[in-house]
Amino acid sequence: MRNLELTAEYKFPRMARKHILIKLFRYRLAVRKLLGRIVAVKLPSLIKLEFPISRNFEAASEKYSQHNWAYIENIMDLSIHQQLLTSWPKTIHFIPNRNIYKSYDTGFGWKPTQSIEDVEHLSKYPIIEAFYTHLDSEDFCKRVTDICGDGIERSRWATSLTHANWGSTVIPHIDTIPQDPYAGFVNLVFLIYGNTGPRSGGLSMYSGPHWSNLIFEPSNLNNTLMMYDTQEDLWHGFPPMRFGTRRYTINCQFSSKQWMAENLTAWLRGELPVKRFEK
Ligand SMILES: [Fe+2]
Repeated sequence: MRNLELTAEYKFPRMARKHILIKLFRYRLAVRKLLGRIVAVKLPSLIKLEFPISRNFEAASEKYSQHNWAYIENIMDLSIHQQLLTSWPKTIHFIPNRNIYKSYDTGFGWKPTQSIEDVEHLSKYPIIEAFYTHLDSEDFCKRVTDICGDGIERSRWATSLTHANWGSTVIPHIDTIPQDPYAGFVNLVFLIYGNTGPRSGGLSMYSGPHWSNLIFEPSNLNNTLMMYDTQEDLWHGFPPMRFGTRRYTINCQFSSKQWMAENLTAWLRGELPVKRFEK
């Protein structure tokens, strides 16, 4: 759900560079697919990936339960963060942007129905793959369950990477989620790399659909986490990134383990009612 008035700000000739890149989507995708198959990836070896998420995660539980969102700095051990950064995938392994309202490249999408081996190009990046595996682990899912504090046991729903650069933006919106309050959807956006200061692509929280409804904009996008409850009336997005900026994120969505087991197929087929927010 997004604000119709704000969509006028996204019409050509505004954001002309992004509109032109979107028009070229098919050609850009074809070139990336070709290069993605033939270009070799040379990576540092995995040093260690034990307990990559710091206790700062749990330290934010009170703030999360009060506001339904939390911003956490130093979310990982520094050596883990450094390894993720130095092994960040090449642009040719991302899918070029094709949506002006969410204008960044995405890739490495791991849906709940897939096995990790089916995620395209992931095996070329063992450090990212190991992090994906950790996010899917019982240990980490339990930590997500505990921080949510509502008695709903969570498991991983979907994981993906995003790669944004100057001009990229996400219009303030509320995610499409099931009407069932026990679905328990929660989003974790690991900010792996970014410039500092405003309009660097920090995923921001809004109380409504306008830029003026800003609640919080993170200014540090290096080894931080934005976490928010998608069941709540929380809008999120970020204004067009300023010239010369760039950002990398790992996005991971969790949902109720039981709800997923019972409803996954019906939800993916579009057979379940969607939650409607007022405004
Ligand atoms: Fe969203």
